[in-house]
Amino acid sequence: MSHALEAVDISKSYLSPTGPVQILKGLTFHANANEFVSFVGPSGCGKSTLFNIITGLLQPDQGSIVVDNRETTGQVSPKIGYVLQKDLLFPWRTVIENVVLGLEITGVSKKIAREKARDLLRVYRMEGYEDKFPSQISGGMRQRVALMRTMITDPEIILMDESYKALDYPLKIALESELLEIVKKEKKTVVFITHDIEEAVTMSDRVYVMKARPGEIVNEIAVDLETDSPMIPERRMSKRFNDYYELIWRNIGISPLVA
Ligand SMILES: Nc1ncnc2c1ncn2[C@@H]1O[C@H](COP(=O)(O)OP(=O)(O)O)[C@@H](O)[C@H]1O
Ligand SMILES: [Mg+2]
Repeated sequence: MSHALEAVDISKSYLSPTGPVQILKGLTFHANANEFVSFVGPSGCGKSTLFNIITGLLQPDQGSIVVDNRETTGQVSPKIGYVLQKDLLFPWRTVIENVVLGLEITGVSKKIAREKARDLLRVYRMEGYEDKFPSQISGGMRQRVALMRTMITDPEIILMDESYKALDYPLKIALESELLEIVKKEKKTVVFITHDIEEAVTMSDRVYVMKARPGEIVNEIAVDLETDSPMIPERRMSKRFNDYYELIWRNIGISPLVA
């Protein structure tokens, strides 16, 4: 069967003053079309390194990335759109100017880009904010603008690296619910990177659990919360939530800090 995204035997080391340090070791995984797949693992296990390898920004030492049956290892694929950990908006551009940026780069006319951006601003309930600057809107809105800037290019696969990490809980679950609703409706494939087990369970169809030093996949878990609701509180209160949480916690290998 063909997958939207496939990775085979990915390894990566970084050079340190004392020699090479292996960060990722032998990662093989895939994402099916329309699937929401998460990677969950402790801080430092190599999640952002993996993100950079999938997007093609970083070359792995070994292994291959295949997008829609075409090898893209070390190349940026137009089928992948990514949202970085920090909402890196251009402070001198307004909201709408930030949203159209992704399309402007591909050479679409300004008029069409603006029309598409206005449609998106409506979907994300941000009408009336188009001429504000990033410094004039909230953190949640900035994160939405970063997502819209990716969505406007209509990528098949969306890659997100801890996008909701810095947000307070009510905002986080509001944005997560909104994301789930939109990606299910628009039939996107999502690869979502997080250190947060609760987030991985509530958002995903399938979870790859990673451990650190070196970063390896230790388990793959299909999640079925028995609800189709995109609302995170609803999903969180599923009777099955705790079973998945426990399974991942036992796999992830975080040792409690002794203060
Ligand atoms: N460019 C780099 N050079 C050397 N070491 C790096 C570099 N980037 C990350 N690392 C190291 O690789 C490990 C994994 O980092 P990272 O992929 O950012 O993990 P995560 O996103 O899971 O927290 C960390 O120990 C980090 O210090
Ligand atoms: Mg990271």
